[in-house]
Order: sequence, then C-alpha cells, then structure tokens
Amino acid sequence: MKKEMKIGLLGLGVVATGVVERLAAQQKQIEAQTGILLSIEKALVLNPQEKAAVAKAHGFELVTNIEDITKDAEIDIVIELIGRISPAKEYILSALKNGKHVVTANKDLIAQHGKEIIAVAKEHKVGFYYEASVGGGIPLLRPLATSYAADTITSIKGIVNGTTNYMLTKMMEEQMDYQTALAQAQALGFAESDPTNDVDGIDAAYKMIILGAFAFGADLSLSDLSIQGIRHVQAADVVTAQTLGYEVKLIGEVKRVAQGITARVSPVLVPKTHPLAMIKNEYNGVFIESEGIGQSLLYGPGAGALPTATSVLSDLIEIADRAYDQQSFEAFNRKELGSPLADRSVVEENYFISVELNATPVSVDALVQSLNKQGYKVVYCALAATENRLSLIVNHVVPSAYEALLAELATQGQIQGQLGVMGDYNEN
Ligand code: HSE
Repeated sequence: MKKEMKIGLLGLGVVATGVVERLAAQQKQIEAQTGILLSIEKALVLNPQEKAAVAKAHGFELVTNIEDITKDAEIDIVIELIGRISPAKEYILSALKNGKHVVTANKDLIAQHGKEIIAVAKEHKVGFYYEASVGGGIPLLRPLATSYAADTITSIKGIVNGTTNYMLTKMMEEQMDYQTALAQAQALGFAESDPTNDVDGIDAAYKMIILGAFAFGADLSLSDLSIQGIRHVQAADVVTAQTLGYEVKLIGEVKRVAQGITARVSPVLVPKTHPLAMIKNEYNGVFIESEGIGQSLLYGPGAGALPTATSVLSDLIEIADRAYDQQSFEAFNRKELGSPLADRSVVEENYFISVELNATPVSVDALVQSLNKQGYKVVYCALAATENRLSLIVNHVVPSAYEALLAELATQGQIQGQLGVMGDYNEN
C-alpha cells in the first residue's frame, strides 16, 4: 500500500503550469480521498532560467535531461505535456519501460501511435491515461469507458476544437475577421503552438479518432476520415445559414451506418434548435446517440489551462486509487479495436453549396427541376437578394454524386461555400 507518489513533469507550458497550480490546491483533498500524497518532484524544461520562479514557489527541481526523470527510481508517475510526436513519444515509451505510470493530454500522439504505446504500458503493467486529450476539462473518455459500457453507441457528434469554435462564435456574433479571431484564440492559450491543425480540422480529427476508439472500438487513422477545416467558411454563407435557421459549427462525427463505421470533420449547418448549436466560444460539446440512454450531451470548456489540468488530475487520482488498492492497471479504453469501417464512397451526406454566378441569374426553378431530374434531392435553392449568389441544399448525396454536382454547378459560376448539413432541411 503506497502512501506517497512522486511525479515528474515533462514540459512546463500553459497546461503544465495549470497542473502545478491545481495540484497544489487539491493535494490535501486528493490525499484524503485516495490515501496517497501526490507531489511534483521534477520538471523537464528547455530553459530552466525561464521557469525558475514557478519551480521555487512550488518546491520542485528543474532538469534538462529526460533520464533525470525516467531513470529516477523515486518517480512513480510521468505527466507528458510537451505535445506533438517527437520527442514526446520516445520520452513516454522510456518512462513506461522504466515502470512509471504515464498521464498525457497529447491527442496527436494517441491518435497516431496509441496502439503501440498502450501495448508497452500493458507489457510493463503500468497505467497510461489521457482524459485531457479530448474535450479539455469535460469528463469524457472515462465515462465512455465506464458508464457507456452498459450501452451501444450509434453516433457521436462533437464540437471538439475550442479554437475554431471560439473563432466561429466571434466571427458570427461580433463580425470579427478571421485573423483577429485566430489571434485572440492564440492569446487566450486555446490554439496549438502552430494553429494549422486547429483551423484545418486536423486537431478535431485526432480527437474523433480517439472518441471512435472509445465509442465503437474503431481503429481509425487520419486517411479514413474526410477532413475539412474552417479556412473557407465565408461570412455570406454564415448569414444565409442563419436566416435558414442554422448555426455554422466545425463538427466531428463518427457513426455506425449499415456498412460499418464512418467518420468525418467539416463545417456543418447545425439546426439552431440542436444542443450543439448553442455551444459557444472555446466550449466543447459531445452529443452521443445510443440505444439505451438515447441522446446525451457532455459539455464544458474544451481548452484552457485549468480545465485541462483538472482532467490531468483526474487521471492522477485513477492511478493513486489503483496503486493504493494494489489493483492491476487495465487499458484506459476497454474496447477491443477493429470494428469494420464503412466504405466512404457509399455514405450519404447532406450539403449546402453556394455559387457566385457568372452572368444573368439562371432560372432557379429550371435549375432545381433539372437537378431533381438527375436524381438529386434539392430541398432548398435560392438567389441572394442583393448578389448573384446562389445557395442550395441537397439531401442524401454520396461523394461521387457530390463531385458531379459541384462540376455541374461550376458551369454556372464559381463555387464559393461547401458545408455539411445536419439533418434534413425539410424536417427543420
Ligand atoms: N487547440 C486545442 C483546441 C486545445 O483549441 O481545442 C485543446 O485540445
């Protein structure tokens, strides 16, 4: 029965500093609940001078050599908060092989190399937890692994990137331009160090890969998802969407269709009445449909130091509880990976498309009739009052038919916006 566990921290940036502060605040409560005193002993940093004040205030040592942590027999738990793949992956593997439990918030790493790392943790009988990797402060992966184990999930849709949700909210509510909104999200510590992954939907895709593994046992990689970010979302389309009763959100979705599991990330018109439409700023929400519970929403801050640090602490508590009771360390995700994936070419989606027309407006009725004759279910088609801009919504289109539709519309003008649509327009 352990009474004390010592922690080595890898990185001392925004979230790691949050971990230091939250652990100081919660240390006594955690000890009372788990029977274990958790304390930070060392932090690995690039430049010790820059971090001297926080280390002194909290009484831990700064080191610059990873082996000072991974080879230190006194350290029980390593918290990796460097991010990205290298050297985080090598450091985590070394920590696990040296018998340390590992906690991380690194979604890039888990989505791409999770299986390998989990196998090493299992081999060395140590814990590997990553609650903070998806949804920031929202308790998400642990409930999926435990409470939802009693259910069968059919779809999981989420706003899982705080940066882009913050940007879209500012762009819609305050007419802020894209660059200013991005700069604000960066200044508030929501964005990745290189925000390309945020705005291009890659960060959301990594998180959906992790959610797909917990919800369905899906073994997804980036190439299995269709991924579109928010770079091409246009103000004119957002305004049209709003007048039609929608908000534009970057949505990640993993769902079970007849042919298997399918996943995508894209900007989507979300009906204003849907709970996901009400999620603003850096907040995230994951909307789950399942056979037993029905519909459920897990909601909270998706980025930011303290919420993310609190999720890291929840993993520490799991480790402390198991260590105290001398329990074994099972994989965080209890689902066996390998659910069959659907062939994306047969999965139908609904789309909103806008076109800047070349010349005199076409006859909308004639266009709709012609498209319907070709088998497209055009459920909305209209010209903007002030411009030569045509907007249309088509339901139930497979990717090849969508490409053919875009090619046909391109003969009328310049394609401007391409967004997904949640649900059938007619039903809203
Ligand atoms: N850049 C990420 C986001 C941080 O904005 O959601 C949290 O994973």
